[in-house]
Amino acid sequence: MVDLKNWLNQQREKGGLRSLRPVIRRGKGRLTLAGDDAQELLDFSSNDYLALAEHPALIAAAQEGLRRFGAGSGASRLMSGDLAVHHELEEAVALLKGKEAALTFGSGYMANTGIIPALVTRHDRIFSDRLNHASIDDGCRLSGARLVRFRHNDLNHLEELLKEKRGTGTALIVVESIYSMDGDRCPLRELVQLKERFDCLLMVDEAHATGVFGANGGGVIEEDGVGSGVDLAMGTFGKALGSYGAYVAGNREMIEYLLNRARSFVFSTALPPSVAAASLAAVQLVRQEPNQRRELHGKIDYFKGLLRTGGYGADLGPSQIIPILVGESRAALNKAGLLQKQGIFATAVRPPTVPEGTARLRFTITRHHSTADLTLAAKALLEIMA
Ligand SMILES: Cc1ncc(COP(=O)(O)O)c(C=O)c1O
Repeated sequence: MVDLKNWLNQQREKGGLRSLRPVIRRGKGRLTLAGDDAQELLDFSSNDYLALAEHPALIAAAQEGLRRFGAGSGASRLMSGDLAVHHELEEAVALLKGKEAALTFGSGYMANTGIIPALVTRHDRIFSDRLNHASIDDGCRLSGARLVRFRHNDLNHLEELLKEKRGTGTALIVVESIYSMDGDRCPLRELVQLKERFDCLLMVDEAHATGVFGANGGGVIEEDGVGSGVDLAMGTFGKALGSYGAYVAGNREMIEYLLNRARSFVFSTALPPSVAAASLAAVQLVRQEPNQRRELHGKIDYFKGLLRTGGYGADLGPSQIIPILVGESRAALNKAGLLQKQGIFATAVRPPTVPEGTARLRFTITRHHSTADLTLAAKALLEIMA
C-alpha cells in the first residue's frame, strides 16, 4: 500500500499535486472560481472550441430529450437502453466521418479502453505514438498486445520499427490527428501509405480535430482526404461538439464486431437520451455551419499573429491548441497564477500528463473569444514569458 501522506507531500513539494476547484460559468467563455466571485476570468482552457455547449440548438435538443425520454437511458444498449436517438446519432457520425457505420461510447476514455483490447491480443503488436493520450495508453495496456512506441510524429522511426517488429499477427497503429497537449498534427497521408505497405490496422483519435478541421468538420481525416485508409476514426462529443460521450466510425463489419466485443460498450449504460440528442444537434450543426469553423480559425490566426509580432519565437503549431512551454511544474503553476491575476484562466499542464521537464500553459482558442479578449490574453502572455 502506498504511504498516502508521504506521496501527497512529495507531490505538493514538487508542484505536482492536483486539486479541484469548482468554476462558475458566466457564459461566453467567462468564469469565476468558487470563493472568488469578484474576479471574472477569460477561459483559455476549454475544449468547447466552437462554443457549442451553450448553443440554443444543443440546449433545446437536450431539453426535448429529457422531456420525452427522461434523465437516463436505464440500461446498456444491448439490454433495453437502445433508443432511436442513439441510432440517429450514429448515422450522423458515420456521414460526418465518411464511413459506413459508427458506434457511440460513454466517453472517449471508455472508447479507447474498449476498442483497442477488442482488436488486438497478446499475440499482436500495437505501434503507438509516444505522445498519445492516456486513454490510448491504457487501452494498449489492457489489450495485453506487445506495445511498440514510436517517437512523436516520426514516421521514419515508425517505419524502422515496423520493419523490425511487425510480426505476423495483427498490427495496429494508433495516433491522434491533433495532439491534445501539443496541438500539432499527424502526417496522416504518409501514415496511410505506411500502414498499407505493412498491412496494419490504423486507428485515429480525432478528439481535438472533429468539428475544427475539414470542410464539413469531419476532422483532419476529411481535410487530408484519407477516410478510406483509416480503419477506425474515433472521436469525442465532449470537445468541439459541446456535449459528452464518444464514437468510433468504420466499416459495417468493424462496427458490428465492436458492438459485440468492446467491453466498455457491452457492459455499460447507454448515453442518456438528452446527451445523445445534444450530440446529434452538434454533429448536424458542424456540417451545416462551416462559418463557425472559419470564424474560429480567424481567431486562432489573430492570436498567433499577436504573439509573433510581440516577439514570441517558439513554434505555435497548426491548431487551436497552443502549448506555451515553461519546463518545471512549479514554474508553470507560477505563470498560470500570474495570468490569473490579469484575468486569464489557462491551466498549467504538468507531468504525468506531459513528459518530465515539459510543463506548460495550454492555451486553447474558442469561438467565444472576442478580438479584445485575444488581445488582452496575448499581452498578458507576452509579459509573463518575457
Ligand atoms: C486525444 C484524446 N482522446 C481521448 C480523450 C478522452 O475523451 P473523454 O474526455 O470523452 O473521456 C481525450 C480527452 O479527454 C483526448 O484528448
